[in-house]
Amino acid sequence: MQANEPIAELAQWFQSARGMVVLTGAGMSAESGIPTFRDAQNGLWSQFDPEDLATAQAFRQDKALVWGWYVWRMAMVRAAQPHAGHWALTELATIKPSLSIITQNVDDLHERAGAKDVVHLHGSLFASRCFACGRLHEDVHLPPEAALKPSLRLMPPRCAHCDGYVRPGVVWFGELLPQLAWRKAERCATECDLLIAIGTSGLVFPAASLPGIARHRGAKVVEINPIRTPLSDQVDLSLRSTAGEALCRLVTVLKA
Ligand code: APR
Repeated sequence: MQANEPIAELAQWFQSARGMVVLTGAGMSAESGIPTFRDAQNGLWSQFDPEDLATAQAFRQDKALVWGWYVWRMAMVRAAQPHAGHWALTELATIKPSLSIITQNVDDLHERAGAKDVVHLHGSLFASRCFACGRLHEDVHLPPEAALKPSLRLMPPRCAHCDGYVRPGVVWFGELLPQLAWRKAERCATECDLLIAIGTSGLVFPAASLPGIARHRGAKVVEINPIRTPLSDQVDLSLRSTAGEALCRLVTVLKA
């Protein structure tokens, strides 16, 4: 196939699509300098055992380590900028207002690139809440050195209402996804005729079931990822590309 044929085919599907879902994973933020979870060479979790950090049990056992790791991630995201792919995706959503962005990411890079109504399946780094009473705790103090020294041990702040400890506003392993977000994601996947999965390993459910839900209803499913994943055998088109490169080329083709 010619180098630009997959993009040309995707552009055709994009133009004729009535309802569209873009499902993003950690790979969507990689070009902003945010390490992904599972990429061996620089995976965020290559330094830690995920079970040691991203569970309620881990927080109960060592809240300073867990909170320190999330503060590092908050500071890293705050220091990062959306990349060209984020801006291109926002432009695609302007071209096709029926496009819904559903993300597994807990950063706010889609929003900082102007994306609207982003559905966060795994919560947000910036929606911390009390571990005991659940009240939001938004003004988290980020120590200046937090972005430079991972696995900082930091005691979490206390809740102003009940004095419980504040936890990150993300979905931990073993926890339910926010029901409104999941129901909207399921509905979008069921109703769309094109789903583009960008930068996800397709390993974590139920998010990883969305491409299959869309395909089962007859939608075209496309994967944008430099490498093969468990999704690769379920898609109609794979673009072995980074998110930034593929999304910018798609905008160029659509505007040609
Ligand atoms: N562009 C596109 N894809 C990329 C890029 C890039 N520049 N860089 C890496 N990737 C791909 C990798 O090849 C990998 O397949 O992004 C994927 C990232 O996979 P993961 O690190 O597993 O991230 P994700 O799929 O989002 O994980 C899902 O698991 O740990 C939980 O809650 C966490 O939301 C996360 C969920």
